[in-house]
Amino acid sequence: MSKFLISAESIGKSFGKLQVLNKATFALAEGEFVAVTGKSGVGKSTLLGVLGTLDPAFTGKLIINGTNIAEASSPELAELRREFMGFIFQDFHLLPNLSAIDNILLPAVFSGTDTGKVRADAAAILSRLGLRNDNTPTKFLSRGERQRVASARALVNNPRVLMADEPTASLDQESEENLFDLLDSLRREKGFAIIAVLHSKKILSRADRVLELKEGVLHEKHA
Ligand SMILES: Nc1ncnc2c1ncn2[C@@H]1O[C@H](COP(=O)(O)OP(=O)(O)O)[C@@H](O)[C@H]1O
Ligand SMILES: [Mg+2]
Repeated sequence: MSKFLISAESIGKSFGKLQVLNKATFALAEGEFVAVTGKSGVGKSTLLGVLGTLDPAFTGKLIINGTNIAEASSPELAELRREFMGFIFQDFHLLPNLSAIDNILLPAVFSGTDTGKVRADAAAILSRLGLRNDNTPTKFLSRGERQRVASARALVNNPRVLMADEPTASLDQESEENLFDLLDSLRREKGFAIIAVLHSKKILSRADRVLELKEGVLHEKHA
């Protein structure tokens, strides 16, 4: 068994003639915080999509929690995502007319899970993230609050890896730092790893490693 949660070797990914990833190699250890940077359009979201098993059409070798992704069935991948990963997307993907807690409970409702326990866990994580647990539709929340709802949803199933794609884009600096304070203290407490696409120098300086994606390859920026 590998000591890595995720091990990606020579990952390639093209859209038609556009080769976005080309021999991208990467490993994520338990509890580690890895930041990915790079210019707009360089392929950071594409990389996260592959590592998050949301995009099956790639080349190279990807092993997640001991599973060879190229050989896994789609129900196996769905289970891996549900049990092992949490996602914070760039535009959050919240349903605007549902409250914070209902957004968080939605995956459990769809998968037919008993929502009782999830409801208690969701309430706990919302309060931990400093959010009101009321009926306010998320469309009335500020961007910073919506981002914390998205974070709570990503963490409610106690993932081993939190993947976040520019979660702090267009937030003011204080909200950005507050969110990372929270995510980082939760990481230390619960032991999950973080892989996040980030730009802010201040937040980058907290990462264990910073990788720059350039011409389809990941380069280590500092240890
Ligand atoms: N589904 C897609 N079909 C075609 N081209 C795509 C698709 N997704 C992304 N691309 C292209 O791949 C490149 C990398 O995109 P992306 O991963 O979103 O970059 P980044 O997140 O670094 O800004 C861009 O040129 C983008 O236009
Ligand atoms: Mg992107």
